Amino acid sequence: MRIVMLGAPGSGKGTQAQRIQKEHGLPQISTGDLLRKAVADKTPLGLRAKSVMDAGELVPDDVVLGMIKGRIAARDAKRGFILDGFPRNTSQADSLDTLLATLDLKLDRVVLMDVDFDILMKRLTGRRTCSKTGAVLNIYFSSPAELEACKKAGGELVQRQDDNEDTIRNRLQVYERQTAPLIDYYTKKGLLKTVAATGEVDAVYSRLKSALGLK
Ligand code: AP5
Repeated sequence: MRIVMLGAPGSGKGTQAQRIQKEHGLPQISTGDLLRKAVADKTPLGLRAKSVMDAGELVPDDVVLGMIKGRIAARDAKRGFILDGFPRNTSQADSLDTLLATLDLKLDRVVLMDVDFDILMKRLTGRRTCSKTGAVLNIYFSSPAELEACKKAGGELVQRQDDNEDTIRNRLQVYERQTAPLIDYYTKKGLLKTVAATGEVDAVYSRLKSALGLK
């Protein structure tokens, strides 16, 4: 199954994609994670991307496409994958279509994670990632036990560089301007399903599985 997760920053794409990966073995391909790794490793690509990401703007299409091409062709993606954070504009969506066509593949489903904008700021300012386990947590919404588990594993709760109020505001505007048009784009192709992504993580996951026809 080849899935695209669409949704504003903080709508829970990463949280839910990690869970599908864990329970259904479909690899999560997150362009944000791939870019953050390149930044941390100080690769030429990472050095090019860092200031753009810190400002909350989109990294140039050619950079992202270069990363995606190799990743989609990798062995673990043969059975399918979940694209998290890609495509991000109509030009990337067209490029994805072309890329999949050359591999004789097509998308099965695009899921829109639908959350009211006023909730997103709290989710994003409260987000922390466990440095040891990579778990995506939240100081407002995760249980004390979940937060404690990271510390017990020897990790620290790390805040993303772009999760500050000014950058979040810009990321939300960039989403509205450049990514939201993909809702129409994939509706016209008959691929889009909308999932109400507010409420408990477990409840959202159940709705997501129904939308994808997963058990
Ligand atoms: P990226 O990493 O893709 O960030 P994003 O789209 O802004 O999305 P987020 O990761 O912020 O949110 P999410 O929807 O995954 O939410 P999460 O599950 O973490 O991109 C970062 C940057 O990289 C971009 O700004 C751009 O510069 C660049 N980039 C990436 N892809 C690109 C591309 N294709 N083209 C060009 N540039 C690109 O959840 C958020 C928080 O909420 C967490 O704390 C979580 O615990 C909590 N939470 C989740 N669900 C719930 C719930 N149901 N209830 C309560 N809390 C919840």
